[in-house]
Amino acid sequence: MADQEQDRLLDHDYDGIREYDNPMPRWWLWIFYATIVFVPVYYLLPGSMGAGPGMVAEYEAEVAAYEASRPAAGDGGASGEALLALASDPTALANGKSLYDMNCAVCHRADGGGLIGPNLTDDAWLHGSAPTAIHATIANGVLEKGMPPWDRLLKPEQVNAVTAYVISLRGTNPPAPKAPEGVVETPAPPGS
Ligand code: HEC
Repeated sequence: MADQEQDRLLDHDYDGIREYDNPMPRWWLWIFYATIVFVPVYYLLPGSMGAGPGMVAEYEAEVAAYEASRPAAGDGGASGEALLALASDPTALANGKSLYDMNCAVCHRADGGGLIGPNLTDDAWLHGSAPTAIHATIANGVLEKGMPPWDRLLKPEQVNAVTAYVISLRGTNPPAPKAPEGVVETPAPPGS
C-alpha cells in the first residue's frame, strides 16, 4: 500500500515537470494532529503558558522583591519609636558604638565632638535630629559633602544600631567640640 501511494503521479505538469503525491506517513500525521489537539489543553493547564504571570510581570516581581530586601531610601528602615527603643537598649548601643568607632570616628571623632564631619553631640543639626532624620542621613549619606551612604556598607540592622548610638551621643558635651553647624533644634525630640 505504501508503494502504491508513493507512486501516484499528480495531474499537473509544469513545463514537463511532473510530481508524485507522497503523503506523510500516517503515524507522522497522527502525531502532528495530536500536537494540534494538545495545544489548547496545554495552554489551559495551570502553570503553563495560559496561567501565571508573564515575563514582564515576573521581572517586575523580582525587582520589587529586590527593592524590598534592601534598606529603603529616605527615612525608611526603622520607625522613630524603634530607633528610640534601640537607643536605650544596651546591646544595640554596644554594637552601635563598635560600628561607630570603626567607621565614623575618623570623621566625627571618637567622642562625637566633630572633626571633618559635624559635631554629633550638640543641639545643632544640618539634616535634622529626629531619629528617622538621623537614620536617613546615615543611610543615604551626603556624598557631595563627604559623608558616605552607609546603607551600601552596613546591614540595615547595623545602620539602626549606629543610629541608636548617635542618638545617645547627644548632650554628652565632649571637650573642645567642633563649633555648632546647622539649625539648633531645641528641645530635642523626645527620648533623644
Ligand atoms: C569621610 C568622613 C565621614 C565618615 C567616615 C562619616 N561621616 Fe558622617 N558626616 C560627614 C560629613 C562631612 C558630614 C556633613 C554633611 C553635610 O555637610 O551635609 C556628616 C554628617 C553626618 C550626620 C548629620 C549631622 C547633622 O548635623 O545633621 C550624621 C548623623 C553622621 N554624619 C553620622 C555618621 C555616622 C553614624 C558615621 C559612621 C557610620 C559617619 N557619619 C561617618 C563625614 C563623615
